Formats: sequence, structure tokens, C-alpha cells
Amino acid sequence: MGPGATDHLLVDVDAVPRPKFRVRDLTKRSETTGTAILSKLRVDIPAGLVVGVIGPSGSGKSTFLRALNRLWEPDPGSVFVDGVDICDMDVLALRRRVGMLFQLPALFEGSVADNVRYGPLLRGVKLTDAQVAKLLATADLDASLAGKKGTELSVGQAQRVALARTLANEPEVLLLDEPTSALDPISTQNIEDAIVKLKKTRGMTTIIVSHSVKQIQRIADVVCLLVDGEIVEVLKPHELSEAKHPMALRFLELSS
Ligand SMILES: Nc1ncnc2c1ncn2[C@@H]1O[C@H](COP(=O)(O)OP(=O)(O)OP(=O)(O)O)[C@@H](O)[C@H]1O
Ligand SMILES: [Mg+2]
Repeated sequence: MGPGATDHLLVDVDAVPRPKFRVRDLTKRSETTGTAILSKLRVDIPAGLVVGVIGPSGSGKSTFLRALNRLWEPDPGSVFVDGVDICDMDVLALRRRVGMLFQLPALFEGSVADNVRYGPLLRGVKLTDAQVAKLLATADLDASLAGKKGTELSVGQAQRVALARTLANEPEVLLLDEPTSALDPISTQNIEDAIVKLKKTRGMTTIIVSHSVKQIQRIADVVCLLVDGEIVEVLKPHELSEAKHPMALRFLELSS
């Protein structure tokens, strides 16, 4: 590896003693054009923190997140969770440990409770009404919603049901891809509160992609700046204005 930003980054990441995720030379090329979408991405994700990922549109943020629970198959030897290559893991077991929420919630047919019970049922476990209520509460929802149809909810409520459904699998990591971009400010705050609470009460590791620099500054402990398929800086949220990469600076100017 040559000198420059990446070396600076490695100093940072090697300070993480036992990262939740270790990402080494993660590369993805477009199947049609062969151009690099992610190029030799290297980063460590510390356990028990909220890690923000920001960067211009098309820089590879969603592609990066989706590699971490094998929504596409990274090359062996490029992504490790607790030191184990994710390619060597059972993919369903990996996705239980590493849950994901997208921009828009996609609830299954049936009631809110059916949705929350879905994951555990696949393993033959039927959650009690009290367990469903507790999961809804963790996602900042009232238990009275349990009997409602998924289709009768607002987008903000549905996103929180999707969060409760993910939490029902007792994940160790949450991957959140712009989870609040379709939500009003109050629903956004509810989701942010839930993320921070999960970190404090369960040591949850969260990786959140957001277009909102302000949101990242509210909840993240560390921020990764992704530009053209590479992590160009890893910073503390209050140090974002000290970013050195020209594209990163421009992005920050435009988004603040
Ligand atoms: N399945 C695919 N096949 C080919 N190219 C893809 C595919 N998915 C994404 N890309 C390309 O990869 C690049 C990164 O896309 P990605 O969705 O990861 O960006 P992003 O940073 O999440 O952008 P946004 O902020 O708009 O969500 C883009 O140039 C996109 O066109
Ligand atoms: Mg995206």
C-alpha cells in the first residue's frame, strides 16, 4: 500500500482492539461496466458504538452496508465479524446477528404482531404478547398497535415496526441505510432515541448511512467519509469540518 490517507486511516483503525467488523480490501466492480464501485475499502468498526457513514450520492454507501450481511457476496477474506470471515458463516445466522433496515419499511402481510414474530417463528419460537409489547416499546411504539394491520400504519410507525421486527432476532449489529429519510422530525427523533438507547442498554453496534450531517452529529461516535468507493477519512462527529479530502469538504459544505 502506498503512503497517504489510507495509512493515516490504518493508524486509526489499528487502535481498535477488538473490532466488531474488520473490513480489508473490500472491492466490488460493476457487473456491466467493470468499473470499481468499492475499491480496496479498509476499515474497522468498533463494537458497541454508533458509526455513521456519509458521502456523496453514488459513492458506494449502500453497497458497503449490503456487503456486511451478504446481500451481495464479498470475496473471502474481506469482511470479518468478531474475527470470523462472513463468507464462512451460514448466511441466515449472519443476518440474524447483523440486522438491516432500509429507507422505506417493507412490512409483511398480517398484523404488526405477526411482523414482529416473523424472525423467531422461523426458528420455531413463538413470542408471547408480552415479548411483542416489549419489542414494540423498544422501538418507541405503543403495545396497542400490535393488532393493527401493517398496511394501516404511517411510514414512521411502519419503520419502527420494522425496527422491532429486526430486534426480535436479537441482533448484535444494526445496519441502517438512511432509515429516517422518509420520516417526519418526530418519527426521526424516536428512531434516533431508540438507536442511542440500544447502544447504552445492550452495547449494540450500529452502522448508519445518512444524508444528514446533523443527524450523524447527534448520534454517531465515529464517522466514516466514503468518496468514490473508498473510505477517505474516519473522524469524530465534531471534527467533520477538519476533513482533508477535497470531495469530503465539498460534500460537507453542501450538506450543512
Ligand atoms: N447492482 C448494481 N450494478 C451495477 N452498479 C451498481 C449496482 N448497485 C449500485 N451500483 C452503482 O454503484 C455505485 C454506488 O451505489 P450505491 O447505491 O452504493 O451508492 P450510495 O452511496 O448508497 O448512493 P445514495 O446516496 O444515492 O444512496 C453507483 O454508481 C451505482 O450506480
Ligand atoms: Mg444508498
